[in-house]
Amino acid sequence: MDSSCFRSLSKFTACAIVVLLSLSCFSFTTTEAYDALDPNGNITIKWDVITWTPDGYVAVVTMFNFQQYRHIQAPGWTLGWTWAKKEVIWSMVGAQTTEQGDCSRFKGNTPHCCKKDPTVVDLLPGTPYNQQIANCCKGGVINSWVQDPATAVSAFQISVGSSGTTNKTVRMPKNFTLKAPGPGYTCGPAKVGKPTKFSTADGRRTTQAMMTWNVTCTYSQFLAQKTPSCCVSLSSFYNDTIVPCPTCTCGCQNNGSHPGSCVDADAPHLASVVSDHGKSNNLAPLIQCTSHMCPIRIHWHVKVNYKEYWRVKVTITNFNYRMNYSQWNLVVQHPNFDNLTQIFSFNFKPLTPYQAINDTAMLFGIKFYNDFLMEAGPYGNVQSELLFRKDKSTFTFDKGWAFPRRIYFNGDNCVMPPPDSYPYLPNGSSRRDISIVVLVTTLLSSIAFFFSCL
Ligand SMILES: *[C@@H]1O[C@H](CO)[C@@H](O)[C@H](O)[C@H]1NC(C)=O
Ligand SMILES: *[C@@H]1O[C@H](CO)[C@@H](O)[C@H](O)[C@H]1NC(C)=O
Ligand SMILES: *[C@@H]1O[C@H](CO)[C@@H](O)[C@H](O)[C@H]1NC(C)=O
Ligand SMILES: *[C@@H]1O[C@H](CO)[C@@H](O)[C@H](O)[C@H]1NC(C)=O
Ligand SMILES: *[C@@H]1O[C@H](CO)[C@@H](O)[C@H](O)[C@H]1NC(C)=O
Ligand SMILES: *[C@@H]1O[C@H](CO)[C@@H](O)[C@H](O)[C@H]1NC(C)=O
Ligand SMILES: *[C@@H]1O[C@H](CO)[C@@H](O)[C@H](O)[C@H]1NC(C)=O
Ligand SMILES: *[C@@H]1O[C@H](CO)[C@@H](O)[C@H](O)[C@H]1NC(C)=O
Ligand SMILES: *[C@@H]1O[C@H](CO)[C@@H](O)[C@H](O)[C@H]1NC(C)=O
Repeated sequence: MDSSCFRSLSKFTACAIVVLLSLSCFSFTTTEAYDALDPNGNITIKWDVITWTPDGYVAVVTMFNFQQYRHIQAPGWTLGWTWAKKEVIWSMVGAQTTEQGDCSRFKGNTPHCCKKDPTVVDLLPGTPYNQQIANCCKGGVINSWVQDPATAVSAFQISVGSSGTTNKTVRMPKNFTLKAPGPGYTCGPAKVGKPTKFSTADGRRTTQAMMTWNVTCTYSQFLAQKTPSCCVSLSSFYNDTIVPCPTCTCGCQNNGSHPGSCVDADAPHLASVVSDHGKSNNLAPLIQCTSHMCPIRIHWHVKVNYKEYWRVKVTITNFNYRMNYSQWNLVVQHPNFDNLTQIFSFNFKPLTPYQAINDTAMLFGIKFYNDFLMEAGPYGNVQSELLFRKDKSTFTFDKGWAFPRRIYFNGDNCVMPPPDSYPYLPNGSSRRDISIVVLVTTLLSSIAFFFSCL
């Protein structure tokens, strides 16, 4: 090979690598512990000391999910911390530690837990009333703030011994960890705040905690190290092509080495495979065989073009035979969400993380109607139609404008097909001039996807 040609080739490669690296740095910093669509989203754990006891205190620990669209679903949260001194947990109401630990130094009364680093889980629904407190016992499930603030809270009561009995001698626990149930959350240090004030049900008397501290935990998709869990497919009335989810988005069908890594929907033994696994209480997903292998697919169909309006149909399909999604939600970004006229059979809430942005919306099911996305099978889907009012200055079916820019399912970014595959208008020369923004966005998301796969 001509050496000068080779040199310029390698220069080009080096340049490309530098560009890719800087892009990937950018995508790392944007994914790390920061969500552009929910910049203040956090889970705050508030620890209110209600009374002092002869050797410690009784506290109510409350977890507030201040995230707009990320909830904690079954099997629920796990909270851990490290005691600063030799504290023990005498008893708990509305939650329990997973291990008692070594309580052999105690005679007579035995504490609930003597571990230096206890791990706490919620109790299950159906716990006897005398073992409950308000907001407990939901199996660790916490709704998101937008979907239902009333159930975005979880609480338990804890009686602590050997801890100090004044606000000067008590030491706050350290190293809080929150799993939901996997990784993803990072918790900061506990900070002493103003003692919480509680008012009685009739509002005629206010009481006050002896001492209050709180801990803030934030989520990062990067820390969660998840492979994608959902993908997007597209179609339109003006073109017969259905653009499927990219192949192998969430995994590849394994031909020989892992037989049974997915199930064929038409398999005659399907029912027995699915129910077998159900019995063994196995939580690993059991996915229907598809080219994308994602447990969730979002389909966006541009359905009708009216004079003043246009209509989209959105379908969410569950391909996981072992998962019912309760309180599911979608976050969708599309420039026309500033003028959504009507939505059928889903709830809608605009998300405006910054005053200037109003193209993002949260969609979620209607309580007792379709807020429960059933396991894979005939009922494993929910759907809705959206009616948008056209803004004459921006509206077009050209260049894939009618398709969403970004979709999240339950807070996880769903992988979009590459923009050059979008269905296009029959007459269009539109393919060549795909907007640079779309290209860069896709490049970034594919890099982020690539790194999250490592
Ligand atoms: C956590 O969220 C609450 C409610 O949105 C907010 O007031 C608070 O400032 C947030 N905390 C942090 C550390 O971001
Ligand atoms: C402890 O209580 C005293 C008296 O109520 C108060 O002045 C002080 O600020 C409290 N200290 C802390 C750390 O809460
Ligand atoms: C808290 O965690 C950090 C890092 O994991 C560790 O270095 C430190 O010793 C822990 N602190 C306690 C009190 O366990
Ligand atoms: C948590 O404590 C910090 C520091 O005292 C305070 O600014 C913040 O408002 C508290 N957050 C909640 C939710 O109580
Ligand atoms: C499985 O293997 C066969 C032959 O090797 C190939 O034709 C087929 O495309 C493979 N299927 C998948 C889903 O990879
Ligand atoms: C999903 O819900 C249905 C109906 O409540 C139930 O029969 C099924 O066992 C559930 N599946 C899983 C995997 O929990
Ligand atoms: C959305 O934002 C754009 C640009 O800032 C603004 O022109 C428009 O009026 C906003 N629409 C609504 C409904 O707030
Ligand atoms: C949204 O629609 C209303 C009428 O429904 C119209 O007055 C307004 O200008 C539209 N806003 C945009 C940004 O198109
Ligand atoms: C529909 O869009 C696809 C690209 O996704 C293109 O290949 C095809 O030619 C289009 N069909 C028509 C009739 O233009």
